Amino acid sequence: MTFIIAIDGPAAAGKGTLSRKIAEVYGFHHLDTGLTYRATAKALLDAGKPLDDEAIAEETALHLDLAGLDRSVLSRHEVGEAASKIAVMPAVRRALVTAQRAFSTREPGTVLDGRDIGTVVCPQAPVKLYVTASPEIRARRRYDEIVAGGGTADYEAIFADVKKRDERDMGRSDSPLKPAEDAHLLDTSEMSIEAAFQTAKAIIDAAMKK
Ligand code: DC
Repeated sequence: MTFIIAIDGPAAAGKGTLSRKIAEVYGFHHLDTGLTYRATAKALLDAGKPLDDEAIAEETALHLDLAGLDRSVLSRHEVGEAASKIAVMPAVRRALVTAQRAFSTREPGTVLDGRDIGTVVCPQAPVKLYVTASPEIRARRRYDEIVAGGGTADYEAIFADVKKRDERDMGRSDSPLKPAEDAHLLDTSEMSIEAAFQTAKAIIDAAMKK
């Protein structure tokens, strides 16, 4: 049987970096489920289709190819905005959750990160982590990332955006962002990536021995 690690948390909490590192160290397959919402939204944008028609968005989600997810194209801000609009649609979520569950069964193990992995997609996962950090710290990290990449950024605008996305993710009626009851909370506000990884590793290793 495969071993599933479910990682949830708000935007820019560091769960992507942590998930990739865990997958690499354990030799597991990794799926950033945010990319499935982003890819669906981008396909609609590219085809000039509306973002507010649930039947059209569902059809697009049903035809999504998980093998073709390209982070560099999908990470753009406008794609994220469009993704957050279709992520509230139950039919889109149903289609993408089916694809995510199929992915989660790959051998020898999988790491899925998103908003509803521990609560909806893989509630049976033996390891569930809820990775978070204060909105100020998350905005600061995103700001530093953009500046380090040679871009210019406005901290206040990024902070407002982080808060707006939290409200959208936590406030929607279908699969809102929240920790699963048995999730381990990992607040990375005061933690380096390496420290967060070591904490996660101890939890994973303990679960693997059971
Ligand atoms: O994590 P991200 O920015 O790539 O997510 C893009 C959008 O998809 C965001 O609005 C949250 C949503 N999402 C979701 O609803 N459920 C998931 N499991 C992952 C992402």
